[in-house]
Amino acid sequence: TYVVTEACIRCKYTDCVEVCPMQCFLDAGNMLVIDPSDCIECAMCVPECPVDAIVHLDEISARQRPFVAVNAALARAPASRPIHSRQPPPGDHAHWATIKQKRHLLR
Ligand code: F3S
Repeated sequence: TYVVTEACIRCKYTDCVEVCPMQCFLDAGNMLVIDPSDCIECAMCVPECPVDAIVHLDEISARQRPFVAVNAALARAPASRPIHSRQPPPGDHAHWATIKQKRHLLR
C-alpha cells in the first residue's frame, strides 16, 4: 500500500484524490489518509503531491513509519470522510509546506 505521511499535515493539497482509481483517500482532519485495504498500489497519486507526502510502505523512512498505523487507524475512524475531488488547501498551506516536522500537529 501507499501511505500518506507527515508532509500532508496542514497542507492538504488534495491533488492526490483526483487521480486515485480506487477512491482510497479519506479526509482525516488536518491530513488525508489512504485506506490500506483499498489501495491497489497503482502509484498514480505519488507524483501529484506537491510536498511528496505519499510513499510506498516498502520505502518509508524510520521517521515516517508511524504513519503506516496512522493511515490504517484514521481510515477506520468514524470522523474520517471519503474525499473524491480536489478542495482548496488551508489558507496557510504555503507556510506548512516548508515545515518538515509536523507529526505533533496531527489532529
Ligand atoms: Fe496531502 Fe499531498 Fe494529497 S499534501 S492531500 S497527500 S496531494
